[in-house]
Amino acid sequence: MPVIVARCSRAAVAETAVAPERPPSALIDLHCHILPGVDDGALDIRDSAGLARQAAADGIEAICATPHIRHDHDVRIDEVAGRVAALNSFLAEEGVPVTVLQGGEVAETAVEGLSEEELGRLTLGSGRWVLLEPAPGPLGDSLQRRVELLAERGRRALIAHPERHVSADMYERLRRLVGAGALVQATADFFLQEHSAAGMAALAEAGLVHVLSSDAHSSHGGRPAKLAAAFERLGEIEPVASHIEWIRDTAPGAIVAGEDLGEPPF
Ligand SMILES: [Fe+2]
Repeated sequence: MPVIVARCSRAAVAETAVAPERPPSALIDLHCHILPGVDDGALDIRDSAGLARQAAADGIEAICATPHIRHDHDVRIDEVAGRVAALNSFLAEEGVPVTVLQGGEVAETAVEGLSEEELGRLTLGSGRWVLLEPAPGPLGDSLQRRVELLAERGRRALIAHPERHVSADMYERLRRLVGAGALVQATADFFLQEHSAAGMAALAEAGLVHVLSSDAHSSHGGRPAKLAAAFERLGEIEPVASHIEWIRDTAPGAIVAGEDLGEPPF
């Protein structure tokens, strides 16, 4: 059994999850709006399957379903596990070799209102890591407080797409967040787009890209559920190129298994 699938199993994947044979280089997408009809992501289950097929063709083995947990989306947290299980059953019937894991994209403004049980239902792969979405605009002190609050509650934060929250002090703020135990998730497709590639490379050169995810919303358009080409690009950028296995394999595997990663090695 591939390493990643074994880790997913330890992370208490839904019983209906498939454990397909995948190549050893199989990838994990930690941020994807693949659940059908719950937020601004997949429109229906066929759209979800379309995203999963894109992912499988790109070498992705497991996808964390990360619906928005935010005031403007009515996602019922106690329904997430059942929706993940239903999607896994559908993908198995369709022969799509991807396992969907639990997760959520938790807005920083939502953290304090979540009970321990609710947080546990939203952690990536049912581990201890929470995908934390900054509030619109530049990263602020409130995000730092939420990362520290999550740490006090025994969780670690994965900061979603900081490249969408650019400011003059963004690097400094990200370093403070990492100092408080957070890691940084960058959007894979932005490494490949002409308008954003230079900025993403600079973020990586600063050592502030720790995992790549798709943040895909639909198979009908927008960012695809793909990672491989962005990892190739990242593999050309020092200092992270020397640690590409940690970024591509070690960190996502540990996150969905709920393991503690310690400090990034760069
Ligand atoms: Fe997202």
